[in-house]
Amino acid sequence: MPSWPAHVDIREVGPRDGLQNEAPVPVEARVRLIDALSVTGLRRIEAASFVSAQAIPPMAGAEDVMAAITRLPGVVYSALVPNPKGAERAVAAGADEIELVVSASEAHNQANVRRSVAESLIAARDVVDIAHGGGIAAEAIVSTSFGCPYEGDVAPERVAQLAGHLVDAGADTLSFGDTTGMATPRRVNDLLDALDRAGVACAQIGLHFHNTRGTALANVVAALDRGVARFDASVGGLGGCPYAPGASGNAVTEDLVHMLQDMEIDTGIDLEALIDCARLAQEMVGRELPSALLHAGARTRRYAS
Ligand code: COA
Ligand code: ZN
Repeated sequence: MPSWPAHVDIREVGPRDGLQNEAPVPVEARVRLIDALSVTGLRRIEAASFVSAQAIPPMAGAEDVMAAITRLPGVVYSALVPNPKGAERAVAAGADEIELVVSASEAHNQANVRRSVAESLIAARDVVDIAHGGGIAAEAIVSTSFGCPYEGDVAPERVAQLAGHLVDAGADTLSFGDTTGMATPRRVNDLLDALDRAGVACAQIGLHFHNTRGTALANVVAALDRGVARFDASVGGLGGCPYAPGASGNAVTEDLVHMLQDMEIDTGIDLEALIDCARLAQEMVGRELPSALLHAGARTRRYAS
């Protein structure tokens, strides 16, 4: 048996990464989903993003979402920010942690936040200072870490170098995003090798996979083999907008939890409660979500090794 981590920390990103790629859902419904997720045992929920409402209409009303959710003690409600203004809004709205996003590829960073990577890196210091000044942690998310929809392959060394700059800027943790589902286990191993060579500690690394090409759980297992124990996932597999070519949902939270439970890796999450949340998410967006468990049921039988 490989030496997988005993515990895996899952951050639920459906209310942000998932819903930002769906037709806009009202604030009250977003709050209902977050509150339902809060009582499943999840310890981290990405609740909102403080971005321009013109750029991402489904994420409008982030302050209202943060004000209306029922916060469970011990649950970290995080928010994505693209720039210092977003960080100020997130701190003022009471986010427990911010996620600063920078892309590893120039073209994607320009498309996403209309800045060069160098400009985003300069702003990163301000974003981190705003978070720390507000008494909260700052994670740096490196988008397009496994490939870019515009530039194609992204060299792992480039991602590792950017990670080093973000640590220098004060980021407390790092997350590497497979923005459009280009990662495979080989690419996961190559990136982890490059991060290792750059001196980035495994404990600082979180991974964020999209299941665009069906490889998300395979990528998770490849990373588990290397000792990574932090992953993002979205309930129901929210985010696969049928009208946006290239956009697809994250790793499905309940499918991931089911797999980890059977691997005897603790997540602290109540799988049945999570499946209920996936059902709620499915009703909310009004289309069938790609979750396997939602359709297959929690389990057939279980054995201990
Ligand atoms: N939240 C809300 N409004 C913001 C903002 C933020 N974080 N940052 C800038 N703005 C506002 C400015 O105040 C300005 O408003 P005004 O026209 O009323 O004066 C306007 O947006 C334009 O500001 P500017 O700095 O020129 O921004 P931009 O037009 O170059 O857009 C971003 C840059 C980063 C704000 C925008 O591209 C964005 O929000 N991107 C997020 C993308 C995203 O969320 N992607 C998915 C997650 S990876
Ligand atoms: Zn994503």
